Amino acid sequence: MRKRIVAGNWKMNKTYEEALSLVSEIDNMVKDEVNGDVTVIVAPPFPYLQSVGKLTQGNDRMHLAAQNVSEHDSGAYTGEVSAAMLKSVGVQYVIIGHSERRMYHHEDAQALYKKLKAAIAQGITPIFCCGEPLEERDADRHFDYVGKQLHDSLSYLSNEEFDRVVVAYEPIWAIGTGRTASSQQAQEMHAYIREQLSRLFDAEAAFNCSILYGGSCNPGNAKELFAQPDVDGGLIGGASLKSRDFTDIIKSF
Ligand code: PGA
Repeated sequence: MRKRIVAGNWKMNKTYEEALSLVSEIDNMVKDEVNGDVTVIVAPPFPYLQSVGKLTQGNDRMHLAAQNVSEHDSGAYTGEVSAAMLKSVGVQYVIIGHSERRMYHHEDAQALYKKLKAAIAQGITPIFCCGEPLEERDADRHFDYVGKQLHDSLSYLSNEEFDRVVVAYEPIWAIGTGRTASSQQAQEMHAYIREQLSRLFDAEAAFNCSILYGGSCNPGNAKELFAQPDVDGGLIGGASLKSRDFTDIIKSF
């Protein structure tokens, strides 16, 4: 069955001390307040992964994600971090293809495919991000744009490999802008994504794939977004940096 997931993408925020107190607060709130089967994921910056992972180890609901992974296995790639390294410090998920990485680090579809393969080979679940810029939506080309992103990076995976993948739909115009997609806009795109996935892979795999919404998700709009039949949770940026807001979003299911 489809997993319900709320993932916090901390991006390049927090010092070490701040990161540890944030995750302890989240861990305690999740233990005290969250019922039901929600998978909670935190994605801190690389240097904090192991310490954050240790703090959440005793909490079955909490999982650890990296914000990026190298497409290479090992070797002379200064500044890069491999999937095997992530696995060795307890990382279970990795965000791949976030629009900020596509934009500022020029990660193209082929590189993203290699990152997907590298993560899956180590048993790490990729959270594959897609989403259109404002001009594509304004020109009514958003479905084609997102369909192409899915096709160009995912279609080379086998059914078994795809079984491990989580998808996040993040319209670029909604990221960090305070302007969220309406629940109707999210639902119609999520249904479209699932339909595209059922063409690329088998229908059951597409049905079972968790598709998260991201882009200015907050405690005020999460409930309505998560109530949509094809919205299986959220990838949260800004609001994941506040333990109260993040926990309230988790409780919106
Ligand atoms: P936001 O970011 O919640 O701050 O809009 C979402 C994301 O980029 O994953």
